[in-house]
Amino acid sequence: MDVWFDVARNLEARLNEAAADLGWDRDVFEPAVRTADPRFGDFQANGVLPYAKRNKQNPRALAEQLVENLGEKKALAAGIDVSIAGPGFINFKLTPTYLLNWLRQFDSEAHLQRDAGKRFAGRTWVVDYGSPNTAKQMHVGHLRTIIVGESICRLLEFCGAKVIRDNHLGDWGTQFGIILYGYKHFLDPEALARDPLEEFERLYKAANARCKEDPAALEEARAELVRLQQGDPDAVAIWEKVNQLSVQSLKEIYERLDVHYDHYLGESFYRDKVDTVYRELTEIGLAEESEGALVVFHPEHPRFATQPFIIRKRDGASNYATTDLATMLYRVEHFDADGIIIVTDSRQNDHFEQLWLTTRKWFEATGRRLPEFQHVTFGTILGEDGKAIKTRSGDPIRLKALLDEAVERAFAIVTEKNPDLPEEKRREIAERVGIGAVVYADLSQNRTSDYIFSWQKLLSFEGNTAPYLLYACVRIASILRKLPAEQDTPPENASAFETAEEIALARKLAAFPAALDQAVTTLRPHFISLYLYELAGAFSSFYNADRVIVDDPAVRARRLLLCRRTLMVLQTGLHLLTIRPLDQM
Ligand code: ARG
Repeated sequence: MDVWFDVARNLEARLNEAAADLGWDRDVFEPAVRTADPRFGDFQANGVLPYAKRNKQNPRALAEQLVENLGEKKALAAGIDVSIAGPGFINFKLTPTYLLNWLRQFDSEAHLQRDAGKRFAGRTWVVDYGSPNTAKQMHVGHLRTIIVGESICRLLEFCGAKVIRDNHLGDWGTQFGIILYGYKHFLDPEALARDPLEEFERLYKAANARCKEDPAALEEARAELVRLQQGDPDAVAIWEKVNQLSVQSLKEIYERLDVHYDHYLGESFYRDKVDTVYRELTEIGLAEESEGALVVFHPEHPRFATQPFIIRKRDGASNYATTDLATMLYRVEHFDADGIIIVTDSRQNDHFEQLWLTTRKWFEATGRRLPEFQHVTFGTILGEDGKAIKTRSGDPIRLKALLDEAVERAFAIVTEKNPDLPEEKRREIAERVGIGAVVYADLSQNRTSDYIFSWQKLLSFEGNTAPYLLYACVRIASILRKLPAEQDTPPENASAFETAEEIALARKLAAFPAALDQAVTTLRPHFISLYLYELAGAFSSFYNADRVIVDDPAVRARRLLLCRRTLMVLQTGLHLLTIRPLDQM
């Protein structure tokens, strides 16, 4: 029997074919396939109604024609029941046999992978995420760009894209004048050895305070910056050391989050690539001099007609815009990128809108290939008081401290649940559960919304949380582990699903591709979390209602199949959300 991986997409394609055969206007008709209310079926196509209305025809009659054409051409896979409801909705129901075959066929992560999101397969995407400024600790605000970015990388990769993970460090700003000054006057080598980022932050604060009260110090800091920009070997050596130690510290956190970059091409990497930007943008007449600066206006845009994109400052120095333009070019020329994604919070919307408008005109005028571009944004993490999350003293919470606290809290919970496990094992579990909980709390929210950070909620074993999902995996794994070999029955022996809970769970499993597609096309990982949460719920209902290890081998086979596929899909989904599963909890 013919089984489709992604039923929704295939239905859409078949309906389009049937409509074309009937001579319908394809520019107007859209099948509009959606997941349906389970009482009526699995999918529903609602597109006939608006089409009929536009053409002043009877929708029900049109729906009948369309369905007849589907049937005649045998375009529909066997095992999908079609019916027409109300004024002309088309309902599709997957029969229990179809569901069984779906589960038999899609039997490994690799298999799910091969069939997912073809649009990305074989294409190269550069994803720029994390990208903090160096010589500073990361704080909680950096969490979202790291994990939303990593999850997007995994989603694209899963769909066959070649993903290049690039950490675009802020390693070349005017702050380095102050840092160099601090390094030369206030450095405490022991503190540096202990915790470099902590020490750099202290140096920056001390130097900044000195510069504010002492004009001579400010002058010296400025001179340090000029020296650095002119390539003075001493200044460059310190700057390099600061960056190298910064990256080392950042990597400790990335490691804990299971994030591994291919490149760390920070702003400084582009500093010898900005002349091309000035020259070309001037030559094509896109950039102009304005009050000594080089700027780009976009006359067609309501705001950017008057608000300039400054690409060279009055003092002749490059800035964030210049390096980002050079970065766009590099990514297309060097990495051959088909697409570029940059993940930052929404305060940078204007910058990226101007960047993209400028890049488009620049590339078009110079005959370059234009990549796809997406600025992926996210909202703020709020404290329980509804304001941006802070420590008691009002400082930003350090990311490292947040992760440590998560692990400590998880350790207490794990210890309470499993007092007999050796401590080492409890620590190992706590690291995964704690970090997984923080990561999941973030990715289970629509990324563009703000959300309230609550320890109690994110570490709970009930509700849409990492502990709940991790525990579901552990439970299924343990059922399978305890299964005596002679009781194991292969899927070939399974009979078609019968109970309501079996059918509901099988259906949910077959809906994985639709959730994946939604997450990938919108670059919103929360569609995966929502799906996993519902899947775990469907499994729970099934497990409470139906015994798995029963005497009838055909029933046992189909129930074991449900257990195995649920575990596989849960683990696959958690991996896409950068969460590492456990075998014990
Ligand atoms: N360093 C910047 C910041 O901390 C983010 C960089 C994002 N990437 C880029 N190509 N501009 O806000």
